[in-house]
Amino acid sequence: MKLVIAITGASGARLGLKFIQYLPQNIEAFIVLSNSAKKALKLEENIKIKSELKKRDNTHVFKESQIEAPISSGSFKTDKMIIIPCSMNTLAKCALGISDNLITRAFTVMLKEKRDIVLAPREMPLSSIALENMLKLSKLGVTIAPPTIAYYSKQDSLEQMEDFLIGKWYDLLKIEHNLYKRWN
Ligand SMILES: Cc1cc2nc3c(=O)[nH]c(=O)nc-3n(C[C@H](O)[C@H](O)[C@H](O)COP(=O)(O)O)c2cc1C
Repeated sequence: MKLVIAITGASGARLGLKFIQYLPQNIEAFIVLSNSAKKALKLEENIKIKSELKKRDNTHVFKESQIEAPISSGSFKTDKMIIIPCSMNTLAKCALGISDNLITRAFTVMLKEKRDIVLAPREMPLSSIALENMLKLSKLGVTIAPPTIAYYSKQDSLEQMEDFLIGKWYDLLKIEHNLYKRWN
C-alpha cells in the first residue's frame, strides 16, 4: 500500500509520528509535515523530526513547500491518505478546496481521485465553523476520526491510550495491528 501521511500543527503531533513508527514495513509511506507541525513538535516534545523519520525504510519525506512531489499529481498512484493531527486551519482549507501547500494539494488530489481519506482533527472546543467543515467533508466521503479516547480496552497509561488511537486509525485504513484489546 502507498500511504500519504500528513502531520499538521495541532497539539499531539507526536501521535502522527507514533503512527508512522508503528507502520508495517511493507507500507510505502509518503510523509509531509507542515511548518507549524514542526514548531508544535519542538514546543511540545522537543523532538528532532528528521532523525525520527530516518529510522524507517520505504519512506519518503517532503516539506510542505515541495509542491512538485509525486503526491501532488493524480497520475501518481497512491492508495490512502491520513492527516494526524489535522489542525483547524488545514481542515478549513481542505473543506474549501484550497491547495496552497503539499498537504492541501495531496488532499485535493485524493478527494478528486476518490481515494480513501481519514482526518484526525484536534481542537477543543470545536467552533461552528470547524463542525460545518467536518460535516461538509464527511458528506464528501472523508472519514472524520478525531483522537477521542475510550476506556473499554482498559488502558492504564498515556502510551496505551495512544496505542488505542493509532489502532483505531489503522482499523479505518485496513492496516493489521495488535495495538489494543478489542471489545467482544
Ligand atoms: C503548540 C501548539 C499547539 C497548537 N494546537 C492546535 C490545535 O490543537 N488545533 C489547532 O487547530 N491548531 C493548533 N495550533 C495552531 C496551529 O498550529 C496554527 O493554526 C497553524 O497555522 C496551523 O498550520 P497548518 O495547518 O499548516 O499546520 C497549535 C499551535 C501550537 C504552536
